[in-house]
Amino acid sequence: MSQSRQIKRLADYQAPAFLTHSIELEFVLDPAATQVTAISKISRQGAHQLPLMLDGHGFELLGIWLNNVPLTDYQQTDEQLVLSQLPDEFELKIVTQLNPAENTALEGLYLSGGAYCTQCEAEGFRRITYYQDRPDVLAVFTTHIIADGKSYPHLLSNGNLIADTLLANGQRRVSWFDPFPKPCYLFALVAGDFDELTDSYTTGSGREVALKFYVDKGNQQRAVFALESLKRAMLWDEQEFGLEYDLDIYMVVAVDFFNMGAMENKGLNVFNSKYVLANPQTATDVDYFNIESIIGHEYFHNWTGNRVTCRDWFQLSLKEGLTVFRDQQFSAAMGSPTLCRIDAIKTIRTAQFAEDAGPMAHPIRPEQVLEMNNFYTVTVYDKGAEVIRMQHTLLGQAGFRRGMDLYFQRFDGKAVTCDDFVQAMQDANERDFSQFRRWYQQAGTPQLRVTSAQDDALASFTLTLQQHTDATADGSPKLPLVLPVRLELISLDLSYRQQHLLVLTEERQSFVFEQVPANVRAVVLADFSAPVKLLQQISLDDLLFIAANASDGVARWDAMQQIWSDLVRQSVVAAHPVLIPASLLAMFRQLLDQPLDDLEFTAELLALPGFDTLAEQYPQIPVDSILDTLQSFRQQIASQLTAELTRCYQRLPRQPYQYQSMQVGIRKLQSLCLGYLAQAISATVISQKNAAADSDVITQLLQQHYLQADNMTDRQATLTAAVQAGLDLAQPLLLDLLEKDGHDPLIFDKWASLQVSLPTEKVFELIENIVNYPQFSWNNPNRVRAVFSAFSHYNPQQFHRADGRGYQLLASIVGKIDHSNPQLAARLVTPLLSWKRYDEARQLLIQQQLGQLRDQPGLSNDLFEKVARSLS
Ligand code: ARG
Ligand code: ZN
Repeated sequence: MSQSRQIKRLADYQAPAFLTHSIELEFVLDPAATQVTAISKISRQGAHQLPLMLDGHGFELLGIWLNNVPLTDYQQTDEQLVLSQLPDEFELKIVTQLNPAENTALEGLYLSGGAYCTQCEAEGFRRITYYQDRPDVLAVFTTHIIADGKSYPHLLSNGNLIADTLLANGQRRVSWFDPFPKPCYLFALVAGDFDELTDSYTTGSGREVALKFYVDKGNQQRAVFALESLKRAMLWDEQEFGLEYDLDIYMVVAVDFFNMGAMENKGLNVFNSKYVLANPQTATDVDYFNIESIIGHEYFHNWTGNRVTCRDWFQLSLKEGLTVFRDQQFSAAMGSPTLCRIDAIKTIRTAQFAEDAGPMAHPIRPEQVLEMNNFYTVTVYDKGAEVIRMQHTLLGQAGFRRGMDLYFQRFDGKAVTCDDFVQAMQDANERDFSQFRRWYQQAGTPQLRVTSAQDDALASFTLTLQQHTDATADGSPKLPLVLPVRLELISLDLSYRQQHLLVLTEERQSFVFEQVPANVRAVVLADFSAPVKLLQQISLDDLLFIAANASDGVARWDAMQQIWSDLVRQSVVAAHPVLIPASLLAMFRQLLDQPLDDLEFTAELLALPGFDTLAEQYPQIPVDSILDTLQSFRQQIASQLTAELTRCYQRLPRQPYQYQSMQVGIRKLQSLCLGYLAQAISATVISQKNAAADSDVITQLLQQHYLQADNMTDRQATLTAAVQAGLDLAQPLLLDLLEKDGHDPLIFDKWASLQVSLPTEKVFELIENIVNYPQFSWNNPNRVRAVFSAFSHYNPQQFHRADGRGYQLLASIVGKIDHSNPQLAARLVTPLLSWKRYDEARQLLIQQQLGQLRDQPGLSNDLFEKVARSLS
């Protein structure tokens, strides 16, 4: 199939020449030949003679009627239908035929297991019928679904159910009407045989909403947590933003085949089953957290995305950045703001910084796109959320709320731009955000350099901030940005504490603070108040002081992170791992022995930064030095603190599983202790005379932790620790997990991801094995990611092997998957794109793999765009 490589530009935006006001769809479902009849009411916008251009491909056109008269005078290209000489207002009827069973790209209408479902964002609706597939065309949708009622008892679409009839041929015809005009990317259809979990929610103004979750047979109870999360999200949005739900029914369907996390289709969310199904045996604490957050995310889209939508896809961050910010605030309100913030920061410092430093760098509002699906990125989503957060920081809670209120007042029912959003924030608060808007135009991670000077005689303290952003691959400008910088000044004796919000707008600015006692220490960028790389020369003692004393938990954690980064840097320079300073080990001892409080946070303080976080601090990534150093640090901690780690592990009480913060903390801290302890007995470190005894004790601890566990979180803790340390006990326990629970797809995925994180060459053999299991399927994105994403992200040792075997494996899989699922292929390829950041030998190895991919016949636009940009 030939694809045009047509780049689309924001600068070329033109308002639609025609509007579609309503569309009535009828689907006669059949696995290989589904017939779709679409009747649209369309009108010309303004005085012009332009043709109507409809998008569509990947189906068979069976007929077109204009005002009920067959139409034969049209042009059909690969991807469009062009209709000329149309009246100003007309009805267009189009009949198409599709093959959902062969749709492995999982865009448009496809089969997931035995169920039909759709994914239309960004441009999937054009695989169903010819239509103006752009978000600024908002129509009222009516949907009729005809299918065999026995095989497909649930026939679902957007809006409210309006009819359900039995046809003469025994088929059922179900009709849905969605009164809210919407772009076609929010259309959804689901047909299947599910278990149903039902509840209801009454909104603040008294509207009773039916809540319905549809999951695979036998899984009803596994949807309870998601359902409860939904109710919490509905209440939170009313309390926080005064936003209520607007239809009589809210449905969530969980499917096993899904390219992304979930989709906010109006009134009918479709979810990756991984983000709905949970019970203690199958889901970890992290899964529970993600489910609550993604359920919230999709629900919050009902206002930020659906009621107010995007004018064009370059504005994607309008809905995604804002909705991620909203889901982060929700998660923070349901649990710990500090831990949620740490989570978000890790995403920015790994994936987002990498994206900004690589060939796919783009501003949160991109300016040109070949394949829109390539721009559902950490930049648009997560950096986009940081940009919203900075507005929240600058305006304060109440000011931000005023801006949101004005935004909905102005734009409800409309398709708008990021500029419209900022304008509402600005107008509601009488502020000038013109410079702030640069955040939407500039790619790249600003570096924030900090220096300070204390003048004891004048009792003044001066902080100088300097910003700079390196050039990025997209060539976007690099002007000074508005950086809100949270600061705390603390005196060493703790008698003085002041918090400030500085706003850096110039390239370089000094801020002077008067009446400051001698010996204050500055905590800069508390709460990670701007998404920047902080550069400051600060001693180990001062960092330990901040880690112990800053008011902001995020800053305390960050100080620990910086301590490790500094030690890694010293090791890289020295070309061998340095010894961990005694004062740092003393801090660890103290944390391990402290009262049982805030355990999850304690575990974060005690955790080393990951390989990815550290890598992003170097223009040329010293892969081997970082890996060796991390390994050495883990083992130094393990051997120096064996007794303390064991004691900490043992004094933490275990209770029957509940997803509840005290327990989550216990499990996380125990898991951290086990992770270090396993390193103490990993083959390479056993030393001293009591090594053998320690080894038995620790092995037993690990084994008991697994065997006595009543939940997946604890089991996974043992398995992760054992696999990472290369311990023999890992394999029998993994086999146990597979035999007992491996029939469940989500457990199979966990098992596979654990296997592929084995840091030895044996992992290649394991991978060959895994893909031959009956549970594995090349067409299922969750299965493929569980093996290959996990391998490239969680196994840096083997992925970055000097002989190139890791790169070769990933590239070959990407090339294979591209034929069936381009979106998935384009996501998997990401770790290869930044080849220029590695040493020369690795550069050559990766470049060669990318070159082969580029030359592959029939390469999708998704993969082409990324590979070509990377090689240019
Ligand atoms: N809008 C969805 C969300 O909640 C993501 C859907 C993206 N889908 C895609 N094929 N790119 O974030
Ligand atoms: Zn979203």
